[in-house]
Amino acid sequence: MESVYIGGKTPLYGEVTIQGSKNAALPIMAAALLVPGVSVLKNCPRIADVEYMCRILTHIGCQVCWRGKDLEIDASSLNTGQLPMEYVTRMRSSVMLMGPILGRLGEVELNHPGGCVIGDRPIDIHLKALRRLGVCCEDDGVGLRACSCGLCGTTITLDFPSVGATENVVMAAVAAKGVTCLKNAAEEPEIKWLCAFLQAAGAEIRKVENGNLLIIEGGRTLHPCCFEIPADRIVAGTYLCACLAAGGKIFLERHPRGENGALREIALCMGAKLRDTDKGLWVERTGELISPGMVETGSYPGFPTDLQSPLLVALSAARGESILRETIFNGRFRVVEELNRMGAEIQVRGNAAYIPGRKKLTGARVCAQELRGGAALVAAGLCAQGETVVQNRHYIDRGYEDICRDMRLLGAECR
Ligand code: UD1
Repeated sequence: MESVYIGGKTPLYGEVTIQGSKNAALPIMAAALLVPGVSVLKNCPRIADVEYMCRILTHIGCQVCWRGKDLEIDASSLNTGQLPMEYVTRMRSSVMLMGPILGRLGEVELNHPGGCVIGDRPIDIHLKALRRLGVCCEDDGVGLRACSCGLCGTTITLDFPSVGATENVVMAAVAAKGVTCLKNAAEEPEIKWLCAFLQAAGAEIRKVENGNLLIIEGGRTLHPCCFEIPADRIVAGTYLCACLAAGGKIFLERHPRGENGALREIALCMGAKLRDTDKGLWVERTGELISPGMVETGSYPGFPTDLQSPLLVALSAARGESILRETIFNGRFRVVEELNRMGAEIQVRGNAAYIPGRKKLTGARVCAQELRGGAALVAAGLCAQGETVVQNRHYIDRGYEDICRDMRLLGAECR
């Protein structure tokens, strides 16, 4: 079992380039299945989830090849909709292959998708929406079989603006005949990036301004294109939280401007200084860290649930009590037990964590239980006296190219 070792309390000073976004890259890789030709994804992150997705795509007949940091996917010879259990059960994003495979082949079979254990993760919204487009789905509790004799555009209203369901429907609707109006669509930046990729490949998608309505004119033949994967707002946000917690001054090159608004407001309120440049974002926290009071996760542009664990670490270092309420996933406080082993004294009641703040953390041997919680434990190690060992590093590798490299670039002792 591989671990991350963090040497102990260090303020961060240095510069790091933010990797390509996991949550943008995975659906765009799925969308490449709609293109009968070579899609080039520039600056694709080299992370475990992307590698799993590459293996799934290869298994179903695509040619997948890395050229430096760019990923080439040739989906011309896509030949089966039977997805390999081994990788499908490892990551949630595999469910997003349903829409494009149904669009290309008319049938798909897969096991229930896996992913981080952060609460119940049903796929009812995906299936309900796909049925509206003319898909028959059978779910025997272990696996899913879906087929369609021809997808047809229609009006769909999602019960909740699920990110994955929005992406699935957009991809299926691009392949469907006629117009699809998708109401109550998610508005996370990753949806915008998926649509931008599809538009670059020739799809007709319109977002109705100031609304959560997407209008997709389906049925166009897509053509190969080259697309740059944007920087990862969650990785950038994780490092911003680490700097809040540990103190110091860091430069986040390629910080995705405009995508971390909720976190920026909290950081300013906690006493950080932020300065944008053409190339990225300077983050400075040299004075006292102050609690922002109450924070609640929410759909975009609310505070992202994926940054909830990294923010817990910063709140633990701040003066004053904070409350962090989780409204998206119902099992996302597993990291608290580990932070408490380091001395954070956080209490969880219902869907809220109560953080007393100003507790001196002590290095300990702790265990990552999922991706973002694991990265938060690395950040906690930067605020602790003595060495911290974060076990189960493979969870962190699902979304961070090399968190140790990045922490060392920011001056930390991390291996
Ligand atoms: C995506 C992100 C994940 C992020 C999440 C919320 C990717 C690869 N993952 O996950 O990092 O934390 O958005 O921003 O982009 N739900 C249902 N039924 C469904 C679908 C969802 O009840 O069919 C519920 C979920 O259980 C959860 C909420 O809706 O409570 C949000 O889920 P969703 O937006 O679908 O998240 P993901 O797409 O899985």
